[in-house]
Amino acid sequence: MIVKEDGEREHAMITHIVGNRPQFIKLAPLYQELDKAGCGQNIIHSGQHYDENMSDVFFEELGIPAPYVNLKAGGGSHAQMTARIMTGLEEELLKTNPELVILYGDTNTTMAGAVVAAKLCIPIAHVEAGPRVHCRENPEECNRIVTDHLSDILFCPDEISMENLRREGLGDRAYRTGDIMYDTYLSIAEKTEQEPVQEEIIVMTWHRQENTSDKERMDSILNLVAQLDGKVVCPLHPRTRKCLAQYGLLEKAEALPNFEMIDPVGYLEMVGLMQRARLILTDSGGVSKESAYAGAKCLFMVELDIWEDLVREDWIHKVDPQDQTKVAEALKFAREAKHVPLPDRPRYYGDGHAAAKMVRALRERQLLRV
Ligand code: UD1
Ligand code: UDP
Repeated sequence: MIVKEDGEREHAMITHIVGNRPQFIKLAPLYQELDKAGCGQNIIHSGQHYDENMSDVFFEELGIPAPYVNLKAGGGSHAQMTARIMTGLEEELLKTNPELVILYGDTNTTMAGAVVAAKLCIPIAHVEAGPRVHCRENPEECNRIVTDHLSDILFCPDEISMENLRREGLGDRAYRTGDIMYDTYLSIAEKTEQEPVQEEIIVMTWHRQENTSDKERMDSILNLVAQLDGKVVCPLHPRTRKCLAQYGLLEKAEALPNFEMIDPVGYLEMVGLMQRARLILTDSGGVSKESAYAGAKCLFMVELDIWEDLVREDWIHKVDPQDQTKVAEALKFAREAKHVPLPDRPRYYGDGHAAAKMVRALRERQLLRV
């Protein structure tokens, strides 16, 4: 159902379930494409991300209509959060009974949506299906496996994701559409790309649980930053700021002469920063892939191969900040990294028309009536 301004509700064919920053970025082009096709749609926000600069800013900048409900189910442990999201979702989906639910990525919101929709026998489409890091200790891996197996149609960003799904017996419902984040990236970057880049910077993002739950680990990341040559601009996830403060590391971080911590930024500003970057230091799955779109090589602070093609060609170079041999290699990689011009950037993730391909595939599977 869609809540109209006067409070009256009309039938919606499709419900998008989102709750995290990267999901808003993935939602924008598909919402637009389905709108062009004349679909009734609505959005449920789980509330997993709730700060203005982690949520509202993306709806405003990317022209996404406001969610008709926010479940405000963020915070707490994985199980607590997932349970709260599931309870809220079940209530909403029972009321509105959409014909299709669309889920994005690999977060607790994604998996909660999959379990609830599947048990209500509502067909599910999963955007960004198929990536695997082959490690069950990774919470996102668990979320992805559950979601992929419960979904009726799977949209893959690359060939490796397709292969993963074939291996798990899901090949018959998988489509290689390319990365929908590339659709969003291009919609912004085409307006702002300036070459040559005037002042090259290093852009950093840092938020993963494995990099924020241990004081020594956080300290070693700061030591790595201190050794990088050039200004490091870091829009800091609220979790990371809280953990730095909790471990008494905030003052050290603030005192690093080359380290500029800023609040999380909207997508327009983020793309602008990445376009000025010669190097990106991150632990984000999304940002490490976007580094190829923006032409900045990537130091990845996670021991997992999420985008294997980029790792194989050493565009993404993994670094363990607690291993001095790895740090020395990473510093060499960082010194040599230069902003890469458009024709020389890797292209594994489609052509920027993923949303249109998703709509075609939904029609082919008769999951879309318009
Ligand atoms: C979540 C996803 C992760 C994804 C990331 C995208 C899971 C298990 N994790 O991680 O896969 O990469 O989103 O950014 O679903 N916080 C705020 N304000 C906010 C949001 C979070 O202060 O608007 C703080 C809270 O203290 C919260 C903590 O950050 O407890 C962690 O948030 P959470 O959503 O649990 O995990 P993320 O690290 O954001
Ligand atoms: N991003 C943003 N502002 C920021 C940091 C990241 O717009 O301050 C964008 C980034 O460009 C990418 C997405 O958010 O498109 C990635 O989100 P995040 O790193 O939170 O999640 P992950 O990709 O690790 O799941």
